[in-house]
Amino acid sequence: MCGIIGILGSAPAAPRLVEALKRLEYRGYDSAGVATLEGGVIKRRRAPGKLANLERELAAAPLAGVTGIGHTRWATHGAPTTANAHPHATDRVAIVHNGIIENFRALREELIAKGHKFESETDSEVIAHLITAGLDKGEKPEAAAIGAVRRLEGAFGIAVLFAGEEDVLIGARKGSPLAVGFGDGEMFLGSDAIAVSPFTTRVMFLEEGDIAILSRAGAKVLDADGAVAQRQIHIFSGGVASVEKGNHRHFMQKEIYEQPETTGRTITRYVNAYDERVEMPDLDGVDLAADNAIIIGCGTAHYAGRVAEYWLEQIAGITVETDIASEFRYRKPAFGKKSFGVFVSQSGETADTLAALRYCKENALKTLAVVNVPESTIWREADARLPTLAGPEIGVASTKAFTAQLSALAALAIAVGRARGALSSQEEGRLVHALMETPRLITDALTAEPQIEAIAHELAHARDVLYLGRGVHYPIALEGALKLKEISYIHAEGYAAGELKHGPIALIDEDTPGVVVAPHDALFEKTLSNMQEVAARGAKLIVITDPAGAAAVKDIAKHIILAPACDAFVAPLVYSVPIQLLAYLTAVQKGTDVDQPRNLAKSVTVE
Ligand code: G6P
Repeated sequence: MCGIIGILGSAPAAPRLVEALKRLEYRGYDSAGVATLEGGVIKRRRAPGKLANLERELAAAPLAGVTGIGHTRWATHGAPTTANAHPHATDRVAIVHNGIIENFRALREELIAKGHKFESETDSEVIAHLITAGLDKGEKPEAAAIGAVRRLEGAFGIAVLFAGEEDVLIGARKGSPLAVGFGDGEMFLGSDAIAVSPFTTRVMFLEEGDIAILSRAGAKVLDADGAVAQRQIHIFSGGVASVEKGNHRHFMQKEIYEQPETTGRTITRYVNAYDERVEMPDLDGVDLAADNAIIIGCGTAHYAGRVAEYWLEQIAGITVETDIASEFRYRKPAFGKKSFGVFVSQSGETADTLAALRYCKENALKTLAVVNVPESTIWREADARLPTLAGPEIGVASTKAFTAQLSALAALAIAVGRARGALSSQEEGRLVHALMETPRLITDALTAEPQIEAIAHELAHARDVLYLGRGVHYPIALEGALKLKEISYIHAEGYAAGELKHGPIALIDEDTPGVVVAPHDALFEKTLSNMQEVAARGAKLIVITDPAGAAAVKDIAKHIILAPACDAFVAPLVYSVPIQLLAYLTAVQKGTDVDQPRNLAKSVTVE
């Protein structure tokens, strides 16, 4: 959730720390702070709110030094104030932390009894004091850091800076990710590869329990048992350019417009376009001929899984159970013998999804990760992986990662159908062909922006909005409602169109618009009846449909958003675009902070 950066550099650290934090602000933006060594002395600047406030602090009172750490916070313990902002420090140590220290109260009381003075309400500050206690006993930085880390319970990624030690930076990882960047005579620590991307493309990902001791000459990694460990260095191709906004007003807008490319990239990874066949990578023992599957995720990733549930049932004829990771992990569900688990996650770090994956592995279920961030924890811990190739997603509201997840899951459904003998090669060819057309159809769907913008002006005045869909478009309605509430703060609910009469219809009046996701497919007539029921009660309908559907709803719809006609199989991908644009343009109209909506974080690495 929080973003971490650490630099052992050869140029002034403060501007570089801020540069990295700009890339990390998507992880949290309740407060930000940096600490550098000025002549060996720890100096800090911190500010509540957005990074711009910290930049102002630094402009008024610059920090010198080439060694430093920085942090952008998503608050867990303690309000987003300056005192609670990281880095936390004593006169000997400064730390930045991502995660939750569960035993911080006991440690804090112990340290207070020994005379340590605490300044904040955070769980994190205890780390700085624990390390200081070790140094005060005469321990060297490495021993003091290791001793402190061993006493911490909970989840953490931390970076530690030591007064008087210009060539030491220590990082530790348990539960929260941490990456080490290798520069030319410079070294970096980051909560992900994006953090270090302005400085280097050579990145090493720490594993659970690792402690990394950095000097400008390189990194020594100790594993959870204290043994020296070798970790592979990867070339991070996520590049700096892909985390710039370019000509777009917001990252979200840029990411919506990247979808022809990102879905195309993901689809072509899994299909042989010439033979019109799906080609899966080696899935390391995941048996696609299984009788059932479970699909787990959170938020938008969960809704991608809900779409895949329909696909897998309809195309492959297997029983599918989808669940939200935070529920699943405590249900202690049992599994059928011939089954596998699919874990959908953009970041690959969501704490609940990771816990659900681990539960499945402990219960001998083969696990398959549909993940966007390479080398993330879920990526590495799953038995097999289907990468989504959306590239770095910065907007907190997920868009291109969602359609990339759908792309990979659509290919998986076809592969399972073939493995089970449920799909003729002719039918497989038709589905693959439809998938190959999707990037072009998404390009067509994007052309509705001016039309959607006009509707967004009206929607921005709504207090409540109902989203309706049927079949595979029910999860798209859920996703549409989620997008709208996340970024425009308008209350929205997604419902299965057929469920309307069982309660939500009571909410309908002329002030409650209904957004209906309704391509002219096999279920269209059923949805049309539901639309009529709503229209009869005065609701203003915004119908997202294709030309055939538009002709049928022209008398009852207040607005029609036209989507291109497409194969029903890929319609969830195509219809994702107008619901994203509707939420985006409504939020822009309302003037909210689209890329960093209040209270949210991009990557939720705490429970
Ligand atoms: C947060 C993000 C959502 C995302 C969800 C799951 O809530 O704001 O956009 O869908 O986490 O994250 P994941 O990284 O596992 O896909």
